[in-house]
Amino acid sequence: MPSMPENELTHILTRFERVCVVQLNLCKELENIADSLGGQVDRHQCALMASELERVMDNAHDFEKKTLFPALKQAMGMQDVAQINPSEKFGFLTQLESEHEDDVGLAGEVVEALNQLADDSAKISPDAIGYLLRGFFVGLRRHLALEGQVLRNATTKI
Ligand SMILES: [Fe+2]
Repeated sequence: MPSMPENELTHILTRFERVCVVQLNLCKELENIADSLGGQVDRHQCALMASELERVMDNAHDFEKKTLFPALKQAMGMQDVAQINPSEKFGFLTQLESEHEDDVGLAGEVVEALNQLADDSAKISPDAIGYLLRGFFVGLRRHLALEGQVLRNATTKI
């Protein structure tokens, strides 16, 4: 397997950090909205997040699928891991990709709820919307933490 120059991997990791910051900022905004439910909800912010959320997630998933994960596979292929079978070696990538699919499904529901909040036409209770938003951003933060851990492991071993 051809090796990957270290500076190329560093560049990819820097891009990942930027993508990660954008998603964490999104999580913080969604948390602010969730915290405001039942009180004074910023409807303009709900509309803004509804329009941004899927674009942010699409950008992140596209970068990770097309650039980050292949680079990680390549970088980890350079390690002396002959004793590990391929399915175990890259199993975490399968998990991360599966979590992306889960996020896409949930993101659609979150956008719908945000649009309803923006229009003041919510069909479900504030508690239910809060539960939905928290399920999304808590899961996304956990996913990003796992990705960060995988990257740290991969880059300290090459
Ligand atoms: Fe991801």
